[in-house]
Amino acid sequence: MKSVTILLIEANPDDRNLFKEYIQDVPLNSNVTLAKTLQEGIKQVEQQTPDILFLDLSLPDSIEGRGFRLIARKFPELPIIILTELDDVEVASKYIKLGAQDYLTKGEYDEKLLHKAIVYSLERKKMIQDKKEMEYQMLQAIVSMQEKERKRFAQDLHDSLGQLLAAVKMNITASTHSLSKKQQDAKKLLQTAIKLTDEAVIATRNISHGLMPPALIKHGVVGSINDMIEKINATNGIKIKFNSTIKEGRFKDEVEINVFRIIQEMINNSIKHSNASEIKIDLNKEGSRLDCFYQDNGVGLSKDFNTVSVGIGFKGIKTRVESLRGSFEVEDALGKGFVAKIQIPIHNG
Ligand SMILES: Nc1ncnc2c1ncn2[C@@H]1O[C@H](COP(=O)(O)OP(=O)(O)O)[C@@H](O)[C@H]1O
Ligand SMILES: [Mg+2]
Repeated sequence: MKSVTILLIEANPDDRNLFKEYIQDVPLNSNVTLAKTLQEGIKQVEQQTPDILFLDLSLPDSIEGRGFRLIARKFPELPIIILTELDDVEVASKYIKLGAQDYLTKGEYDEKLLHKAIVYSLERKKMIQDKKEMEYQMLQAIVSMQEKERKRFAQDLHDSLGQLLAAVKMNITASTHSLSKKQQDAKKLLQTAIKLTDEAVIATRNISHGLMPPALIKHGVVGSINDMIEKINATNGIKIKFNSTIKEGRFKDEVEINVFRIIQEMINNSIKHSNASEIKIDLNKEGSRLDCFYQDNGVGLSKDFNTVSVGIGFKGIKTRVESLRGSFEVEDALGKGFVAKIQIPIHNG
């Protein structure tokens, strides 16, 4: 069996020694590192990314579970087993709820319990990660299916309904020419029908382009954002300043489409909800990451607003970001309008 690297963060020297004794009797090829304080422990986790962490709850530089929360937030992948002074089920279950894999009571565990805790924790953590991976893949599949549907729908709308309306217009136009002078009233009606058909052609094209902007397929994310912004800036409303150092090169389709949709939704939101006069958008490549900064100078989100639970638009943004394994953060920027930061990893391209 492959070796297991274990980190023990434990302040009490007696407890450290006891742990070392028991772990020697555990039938696993284990490799133990010790840390005496939270700070030291965090450094160790960063340096050697252990497979599993045993964490004493009574560290000198950690009050009331702060250490646990800190590590769990910083290293979400790391399985943590809590070491408690007393067999306090309430305390233990609190940490399990916060994401600890298991707990052991000092003075009450032996090599058998230790062995079991290690094996189960590693197994459980792996299951959770596998499940997360599956969820990613499902999200990816859903989002990409949706986009494919949109693309097909946009194409059909453009090709079939658009062409049909053009044919209708041609026919009506031709029939107006064969009307006699006496039939002026009918001619007027037909001219109105022509005007309406023209409007229907434009509406069809706009719907089709809204579903799948041709610029997105042709010029990629930066080109299509520029295109969209140009149209908005040509009206008298909000002014958008878009900066990007990405001059050329395309990203994967799913990155391009989703980043475009996310920015499109945020712009729509600013137009609909913010009362802003200006939007600033930066989109840049930082190493193997795509970074987007978005800010409008409007009213901002209300203080008690929760982007996780409310709004189809925000839900869509979250789904898209998650399907790309990226992050979406709305900044707490009271008085500065709506501010968001999006980071998307781009591995190849
Ligand atoms: N830029 C913004 N400025 C102010 N409020 C916003 C902004 N964007 C979103 N909101 C608020 O968040 C809510 C949820 O947005 P969203 O999920 O996109 O749903 P919808 O746009 O359909 O209302 C909006 O109804 C609005 O109250
Ligand atoms: Mg919206």
